Amino acid sequence: MKTIKFFSGQELPVELHKVRIVQKLFLKPIEERFEAIEEGGYNTFLLNTKDIFLDMLTDSGTNAMSDNQVSSMLQADDAYAGSQSFYRMESALQEVFNKKLLLPVHQGRAAENIISQVFIKEGDVIPMNYHFTTTKEHMEINGGKVLEIYTDEALKIKSDFLFKGNIDIQKLRDVIAEYGKDRVAFIRMEASTNLIGGQPFSIQNMREVREIADEHGLMVVLDASLIGENAYFIKQREEEFKDASIKEILHTMTGLSELVYFSSRKVSSTRGGGICTDDNDLFLKMRDLVPLYEGFLTYGGMSVREIEAMAVGLYETTDETVINQSPSFIKFAVEKLDSLGIPVVMPAGALGCHVDAKDFLSHVPQEEYPAGALAAALFIVSGCRGMERGTISSVRDEHGNDILADVELLRLAFPRRVFTLSQTEYLIDRVNWLYQNRELVGGLKFVDEPPVLRFFMGRLAPTSDWPQKLIAKFKEDFGESL
Ligand code: F0G
Repeated sequence: MKTIKFFSGQELPVELHKVRIVQKLFLKPIEERFEAIEEGGYNTFLLNTKDIFLDMLTDSGTNAMSDNQVSSMLQADDAYAGSQSFYRMESALQEVFNKKLLLPVHQGRAAENIISQVFIKEGDVIPMNYHFTTTKEHMEINGGKVLEIYTDEALKIKSDFLFKGNIDIQKLRDVIAEYGKDRVAFIRMEASTNLIGGQPFSIQNMREVREIADEHGLMVVLDASLIGENAYFIKQREEEFKDASIKEILHTMTGLSELVYFSSRKVSSTRGGGICTDDNDLFLKMRDLVPLYEGFLTYGGMSVREIEAMAVGLYETTDETVINQSPSFIKFAVEKLDSLGIPVVMPAGALGCHVDAKDFLSHVPQEEYPAGALAAALFIVSGCRGMERGTISSVRDEHGNDILADVELLRLAFPRRVFTLSQTEYLIDRVNWLYQNRELVGGLKFVDEPPVLRFFMGRLAPTSDWPQKLIAKFKEDFGESL
């Protein structure tokens, strides 16, 4: 992807790839989209892709693979133990992350399970820039408490602070002083911090965290699921690294952490995941859990074909023109939506465009899940599927009350190299229409609420007949069209 200046004066992201395999999409009429969301309990996770036009739920496992990735799958070496495919992936990781030892796992949360079981004991705390849903659940199951120590800028929707993923250094010192270093299991830094809008941290911040960790003998654990994008933002935004290669930046980041874990569903556009380290003692502490939960140490629950594609995908993560595709489209969408007065997380981050549902639907109380309602409403009026990242993705307290999320976001993910600019324009147009008609959208309530990670399987219903009113207005404006 390269942003090119046009004769018209416009600057647009232009693809440095051509599309050679495509998948047919359908844009169903609004009544059918309404039926689909009713059947799915107003939860976009429960939709069937046959009813979806643009699937912007996530970039996880949905990025487009390259020709080199697909062709590498043909040379996969089927073997339970000692597969050549594994050694090729191990070499790729050694080169790209500069860590010697690798434990393969079937996806990112499997790494979280192993790390949490091994390094967290009852009563421990884990300071971090921000939690991720599955990360927090694994840490709590193992008796740990997540402490989010983000900076004051992190949750501001519109900010010009370029590193909203930074850890607040003073808060980190305070946490260690309050709990004592023995109760701090480790410090976790998440690259391109997902739940606050795909926001990066700086190397300078990571160095400061490292310094404090060293003072107290603490371990720094890096969630590298979105490390490529974080490295790209560092190159764009941190003066010291403007001429550095992406690989040099990746090495600097991984070099500041003892443990690096990742979801390959994001970082290398495949499936799977892994944990890397240079420390043999740490490696041995975790090693025996891999055959127990994942599979033998040379496949870790992945197919050998995925492992081959993962190796190639990891090398491609060092190519700026590959990893900047999603951030460039997100920036395009964010700036356009902002110019239309629509509240979006700024600066534009990684993985998706994040609409601020609290502001967009300011008449919907947070107890009625504005981000979930916005996700459902956008699906009805456009066929675009986003993901709720707000209170539905949170939990209840011991009295059964919702713990209201810090931010109510509708995430519209841009998987790498999947959508075109005209599809992005369609999305922007429908979000804008919805914004002009926002007073028609009401809230949601749970009708079936699972106790753990309720956002995945929970079913909800509208608090009034607002979807019917929204559909009537849509038809008035667009006729009986789509
Ligand atoms: N860490 C981060 C920062 C993630 O974004 C994810 C997944 C995981 C860990 C877990 O990895 O899915 O392979 O088990 N994020 C996906 C998303 C699910 O849609 O943002 P996983």
